[in-house]
Amino acid sequence: MKTNERVLIFDTTLRDGEQCPGASMNLRQKLEVARQLEKLGVDVIEAGFPCISDGDFEAVSTIARTIRNCRIAGLARCVENDIRQAAAAVAAAGDRGRIHVFLATSPLHREYKLKKTKEEVLELAVRHVKMARSLVEDVEFSAEDASRTEPDFLAQVMEAAIDAGATTVNVPDTVGFTTPVEYSQLIRYLVQHVSNIKKAIISVHCHDDIGLAVANSLAAVGVGARQVEGAINGIGERAGNAALEEVIMALKLRPEAFGFAPGAKVVNINTRELVKTSRVVSRMSGLAVQRSKAIVGENAFAHSSGIHQHGILAKRETYEVIDPTDVGWGETELPLTKHSGRAAVKTRLEKLGHVLSEEELTQVFERFKRVGDSKKFVYDDDLSALVNDSLDTHQGKWKMALLQFTAGSGTKPTATVSLEKEGKVYTDCAIGNGPVNACFKAIDRITRTRGELVDYAVRSTTAGQDALGEVSVKVQFGEGGNPVSGKGAASDVVEASARAYLNAVNRSIVLEEMNACRK
Ligand code: KIV
Ligand code: ZN
Repeated sequence: MKTNERVLIFDTTLRDGEQCPGASMNLRQKLEVARQLEKLGVDVIEAGFPCISDGDFEAVSTIARTIRNCRIAGLARCVENDIRQAAAAVAAAGDRGRIHVFLATSPLHREYKLKKTKEEVLELAVRHVKMARSLVEDVEFSAEDASRTEPDFLAQVMEAAIDAGATTVNVPDTVGFTTPVEYSQLIRYLVQHVSNIKKAIISVHCHDDIGLAVANSLAAVGVGARQVEGAINGIGERAGNAALEEVIMALKLRPEAFGFAPGAKVVNINTRELVKTSRVVSRMSGLAVQRSKAIVGENAFAHSSGIHQHGILAKRETYEVIDPTDVGWGETELPLTKHSGRAAVKTRLEKLGHVLSEEELTQVFERFKRVGDSKKFVYDDDLSALVNDSLDTHQGKWKMALLQFTAGSGTKPTATVSLEKEGKVYTDCAIGNGPVNACFKAIDRITRTRGELVDYAVRSTTAGQDALGEVSVKVQFGEGGNPVSGKGAASDVVEASARAYLNAVNRSIVLEEMNACRK
């Protein structure tokens, strides 16, 4: 194997990642994630599925207009209108625009979903790859459910897709069913049986249903795959996609374990941006990162046992295989205080990847001043939490205007809430089994929703008694739907809880509107 070969990193956080139940990002949030992915240095950003809704189209085209250093992909089914829309959405990226066409190839999907024969599937794939290639130079073809497709038929489809103009061929393990040995055998089979395979890059796209997405992706790299698709924090449909931060660090740390020369530079990624990227994705998607998550979890480099601590102090490598600073831990600057001015806050926000309009900055600065009054230092994590909280109420939806509550032994917990929508303020009050519950009920009354809390977690953004409380909720609206997540931050946990709940209410309204568009 050549030592100068590289593995391309294809990030689908904004497409497959966003399909994660409970996640939904608005345009501003998607753009912020895309900007951070650009800083991280991923090769391809799959920005969305343009034909699925006007919102998706707008997100892909805005990202294509804004991002300058990554390829921008738009997903399309083998349907002419999908391909036309994907081409229009990525047009602003010029020759960095990619159309990603997919079609299921497995017997199960052919028989029950597509109701098509092998010949029909082959013809559809070829026709639509040709069409995509007539619109852009960079075309990826994905054989959905490839890992459960007959290998000889898969090879036939891949060969035909490359002949039709596909420059990348993707072998998705759509349902997360394969294993490292089996998947590497399949990739090897394709390398040996697709006669024109050298004209395309082999890509892998693994889901994590049995927890093997990263292992499967790396096994495929070991036998010749040169693009890995995945999402930051491993978010995605069902159990998620391969966690890109893990794939990236495994390839950086152990190139020799995957067929490269020891010390070879396999990925072109600025790994010091990994922790920041994880946080941006978590804040923007509303999906918390597990504390023990490899690379980016709070505990990933925390050593609690005395023996380990002693070892680390004597020599870091005794219990750490990665230097935490290599992935961006510990890169904090001096905290801001209430005396910091608007310009200082703006500069720090920009460093953190938050590009705000003047109006948005005003909103965040007002919250910053309030927090600064009750807290000696305002840390970067506090600031990011405030940005997320202040601007995450989705344009035109409900905004918190006032919150008052009383609680204590011998009193009935009561909350009065005022919410603002399109310039009008609505007020209501409610009694609950605690102040948080009373706030949720008052919000329900104003917004005419009825949410059932299915998950609630609170954490402090930083250490210290004056830390901001950041609350994550999952709320079920109506029967049968997926729970919607929400986040809120404030010095007071009851206020943070009310903000998180309101965030979920706003997200559920956006999701409902998006679903209505798709029908
Ligand atoms: O999992 C899958 O098969 C996909 C394709 C659209 C690539 O997400
Ligand atoms: Zn997928």
